Amino acid sequence: MPLAPMAPMLRSARRSGYAIAAYNMIDYNSVRSMVAAAVDLDAPLIVQVSVKTVRHWGYRPIASWVRALAEDAPVPVALHLDHCTDVAVIRDCIDAGWTSVMYDGSSKPFEENLATSSEIYALTQAAGVGLEAEIGAIGGVEDDKVVAGDAARLADFDECVSFCEAMPNLAVFAPAIGTAHGMYRGEPVIDYTLLERVAKTTGMPIALHGGTGLTEQQFKRCIGLGCAKVNISTMHKMLFIKGFVDLARDKPDLGEPLPFIAAQHDAMKADVMAMIKTFGSAGKAADAAAG
Ligand code: 13P
Repeated sequence: MPLAPMAPMLRSARRSGYAIAAYNMIDYNSVRSMVAAAVDLDAPLIVQVSVKTVRHWGYRPIASWVRALAEDAPVPVALHLDHCTDVAVIRDCIDAGWTSVMYDGSSKPFEENLATSSEIYALTQAAGVGLEAEIGAIGGVEDDKVVAGDAARLADFDECVSFCEAMPNLAVFAPAIGTAHGMYRGEPVIDYTLLERVAKTTGMPIALHGGTGLTEQQFKRCIGLGCAKVNISTMHKMLFIKGFVDLARDKPDLGEPLPFIAAQHDAMKADVMAMIKTFGSAGKAADAAAG
C-alpha cells in the first residue's frame, strides 16, 4: 500500500479499542523487521523516526526505505517524525513524504507551546499531514531529548482540554501521564484518572510514550482508557545490538555479515510481534486502513 496517513488509523484504533505499535526505526533492517512483523500479524504499523536518526541518514533515504517496504506490504504503514522542536525539520519531512509529524513544545510555557503548536497545526492541515503534540513533560531520555526526573511534569487537565479544542483535528494527543522514555528505574506511577478524563473529554486518540518496560497489564489498562498509539524505542535499540552481539559471541569465527543482519532482524521482529499482540492490533489492518 502507499504510505498511510496516521490520523484515520488512530481514530479507528481508538474507536475499536486497540493501539497501533509506533516503533522508532534505526536503519533499513530495523524497518524491515517492523514491517515483517506487521505483515505476519495483519496489523497496522507506525514507523517513527527521531530527529537524530533523520539527521544521521538524511530525509530521502529514510523516506525511500519506508515507502518501498510499505508499498510491498498489504497492511497500512505510516511514516511519522517523533519529538521535534525544529520547524525546518518538520517542513523537510513533509516535503520528503512523511505522513505525520510530532511537534514537541513541552519544554515551553503552556501559552507558547499552544501558539507554536497551533502554527504547525495550520501548516500540517494545509499539507494534508497528521500532527501529534505534547502537553506536560514526559521524563527520561529519548535521543537528544533529556528530561530529568524533577523536570518531568504531568499534563494539566484544563490545559489539555483547551489545547485539543484549539486543534480539533490533531492526529494524536500526547499528555504526560507519568510514563517516561528509556528504562524505568522504579515502578512508573501512571495517572490513569488523568488519562481517562482527558481521553473522555477530548475524544482524541492518545499517544502512550515510554513503552519500553511497561507491563502487559499497564499497556492494556492505558489502551482501554483511550491510548491508540504506543511508542517503543529503547527496547528496539537494545535488540538491534543484542541480535548482533549474541551471534558474535556464539559464532566468533563467522566471517559473513549477512547472518548478523538476519539475527538482528529476527530479534527485533519477535519483539514487534509480541507488542502487536499485546496492543490488540493483530488482524486490524483493514479496520485501521478503513479510517
Ligand atoms: P521508550 O524509549 O521508553 O520505549 O519510549 C519511546 C518513545 O516514547 C518515543 O517517543
